Amino acid sequence: MNSSQEKSLIQAAYGHTTSRTPIWFLRQAGRYLPEYQEIRAQMSFLELCRDPQKAAEVTLQPLLRFDLDAAIIFSDILIPPTVMGQDLTFDKGHGPRLAPPIRSAEDVKNLKIGDIPEELSYVGQAIKETKKGLKPHQTMIGFAGAPFTVASYMIEGAGSKNYTHVKEMMFGQPKAFSQLLDQLVATTIEYLEMQISFGAETVMLFDSWAGNLSDADYRQWIVPTISKLAKQITSVPVIYYPGQHHIDALEGLEGVDVVAIDWRYNLPNAVETLKNQKLDVSIQGNLDPQVLMASESVIQEKVRAILQQGENARGHIFNVGHGLLPHIPPQGLKTAIAEIRKWDQEKYKQLK
Ligand code: CP3
Repeated sequence: MNSSQEKSLIQAAYGHTTSRTPIWFLRQAGRYLPEYQEIRAQMSFLELCRDPQKAAEVTLQPLLRFDLDAAIIFSDILIPPTVMGQDLTFDKGHGPRLAPPIRSAEDVKNLKIGDIPEELSYVGQAIKETKKGLKPHQTMIGFAGAPFTVASYMIEGAGSKNYTHVKEMMFGQPKAFSQLLDQLVATTIEYLEMQISFGAETVMLFDSWAGNLSDADYRQWIVPTISKLAKQITSVPVIYYPGQHHIDALEGLEGVDVVAIDWRYNLPNAVETLKNQKLDVSIQGNLDPQVLMASESVIQEKVRAILQQGENARGHIFNVGHGLLPHIPPQGLKTAIAEIRKWDQEKYKQLK
């Protein structure tokens, strides 16, 4: 048995049979863990991302507490723009900010084509360091923001309600917008390949802001962009999170092995919708993360429903449908994981 055959997450991602449901949680390393808070009290978020030893320590924290099948490298989707000439800051009380914002064809032209693999090699080093702490059945996940979502942050310069500047460029300067996306496709491929060369065994693309587009614009701008990118990542499975909408606008998507489903979706409908579009993909998701604050019996009931619904998919990676929030009690994850392991035991007995 080679190492990837032991890993249930990789097996499920490719739609192969597993005897264990792979489990991980979006934002599983972070502020809901007191041991994370302790490290954050000593250094800023970005200092932490840039320190491979500390980033690895934080990446492994949830795996020391919980029976998880994967570690996702501790970093952020907004790190790559820092080598393209933008400054990234996280001020207290605000979300992330990128400055100066990219608003014109001239700005796009003036972006630095930095040496991503070299300048961001600390992310690779952190992956290498994290792998020393993984068990053979656990998978190392690398990630990046999808080009549209990163472009949106670069253009707006911060979080946004209406994405006005993004749409101004998309509708008013489509050539410049297209060039920005093309540049991000190229840098994201380099960035993910670098992570793979350091040991990432699957990669996830976060398109958290794509849900803001109309159906037609999503099909025009996003599907070809993701396909172009994902088709070039051939050595490991690609997980794609399309945001809160557009599971029904993915027709023609190529190169993606797993679609991550937001918690707002009805899972059986999502699986059906993907099949109807002839997408041969596994799914990841989709517990509402706030269920993890509920009582033991509510968590058990809702987790079991998702496991049952996931049965119809080609493969199912259990996860929350969006990131864990700082107020989630760690005990909620324990309860959810115990329920999934119970389910696995029952299912495995039946298969024998
Ligand atoms: O554990 C993991 O999932 C891995 C690490 C990870 C982070 N961000 C760490 C982080 C991942 C995969 C991300 C992705 C990310 N970052 C996305 C896509 C996923 C999504 O949530 O839709 C987006 C949109 C971002 C941009 C970003 N970074 C935001 C909106 C924030 C929150 C700002 C805030 O103050 O809450 C961040 C900061 C961030 N990224 C934190 C963490 C753990 C909080 C840092 C801290 O204050 O300690």
